[in-house]
Amino acid sequence: MEPKFISAYQPKEGARRARELFEKTFSAAPVGVWRAPGRVNVIGEHTDYNGGKALPLALPHAIYVALRAREDDQLKIISEDFPELSVLELSDLEKNYPASGPGAFVGGVILGLAQVLRDNDQEEAAQKLQEKIPGLEVAVASSVPLSAGLSSSAALECAIAVGIDELAGLGLAGSNEGRKLLVAAGKLAENRYVGAPTGGLDQSASMLCEKDCVLELDCATWQTRSHPFDLPALGLSLLVIDTCTSHDLADGQYGARRATCEDAARILGVKELGELVPQTISPTDNLTDLDADDYPPTWVRQQLDKLEDAEQVSRVRHVLTEIARCQRLCELLEAGADLDEWRKLLDASHDSLQRDYEVSCEELDVAVAAARTAGAYGARMTGGGFGGCAITLVSTDQVEATASAVVEAFSKAGFNQPRFLSVSPSPTAGKVE
Ligand code: GLA
Repeated sequence: MEPKFISAYQPKEGARRARELFEKTFSAAPVGVWRAPGRVNVIGEHTDYNGGKALPLALPHAIYVALRAREDDQLKIISEDFPELSVLELSDLEKNYPASGPGAFVGGVILGLAQVLRDNDQEEAAQKLQEKIPGLEVAVASSVPLSAGLSSSAALECAIAVGIDELAGLGLAGSNEGRKLLVAAGKLAENRYVGAPTGGLDQSASMLCEKDCVLELDCATWQTRSHPFDLPALGLSLLVIDTCTSHDLADGQYGARRATCEDAARILGVKELGELVPQTISPTDNLTDLDADDYPPTWVRQQLDKLEDAEQVSRVRHVLTEIARCQRLCELLEAGADLDEWRKLLDASHDSLQRDYEVSCEELDVAVAAARTAGAYGARMTGGGFGGCAITLVSTDQVEATASAVVEAFSKAGFNQPRFLSVSPSPTAGKVE
């Protein structure tokens, strides 16, 4: 069977779709169209809520929102994917959350941004936002596959955030510091109004990643640094494998992992586990051969020895080694490409997520194994796990062959047909028209 590739909308096409849907639904023109990308994380998984590092990039697959403010406090949302108009009152969401449906995301960002502005002593801006955007009409067009672990929800939050920023004349999207407030608004929308205890990686990726770069994201300080990630110059492509198995971050598994880490941090006497990772990782530390006697490195073992609970031990082993792997990959990116090391780090990240963090699933493991056998420079699950997507770095001339190998492995295992995205790092969230 031929592998099926999902293409991204070109910005003009995405904007046209969102605008036309808006005009058809609301019988009026939108004020503008804004775009925000989905993401994949190259390495640094389940590290964000532990104050560690992650390394995401923005996908060309993005969400487009056509917007117009309303004078009453209604949110009216129409989407290509959910063609029934969703209607919600903002004042209702303010009182009754967490809630489900697109209104919780959209309204959550509006309420979240007002809160974030107040928390940052920007009372005037918060008032301006509430005056200018009492309610909102929204039409959504998306080429980010839904429920695939590619952050379609964060992309929606970020598209709304840059849109309302401009509609209210706040000017936050014009600076890095302002963008971080928009990230915080998206995160609050998700944590409070949707009720998913996620860590901020996804909104940061959508709002702060740059074209042709990966973003080194330090989730302890929220400092960022872009590293050029010029795969074409290396003859490589990033292939995303959508296993077409669903994942739901609001279900208990993600929250349970997070709670275990927080308990372990308390026992180890730190606020976040990331504090236990040294600033500089010794090049002799074994972070990649999980079966070797010297895995994990001594500084990790010293912490694990203080824990009694076997589950805490394996979760913490993943988190500490994963932060260190991410740190090492960032160093390697600075020093120039070392493909063999990249491969080892990506592969070890997956193996650690599978064995120690237990967030992989059969489909992800089969996808990763098939890509590795086909000669990939590293393959791993990306995002929260329990389904969703894997990523693999492959020679550009091997993209089709690798995808075919995965299709064959899926068919042999009796899984659903997977889908693929061939991607390069794309521009950040912003206005399209
Ligand atoms: C999901 C969450 C993120 C992050 C990743 C795992 O994508 O939304 O905050 O925790 O899982 O790295």
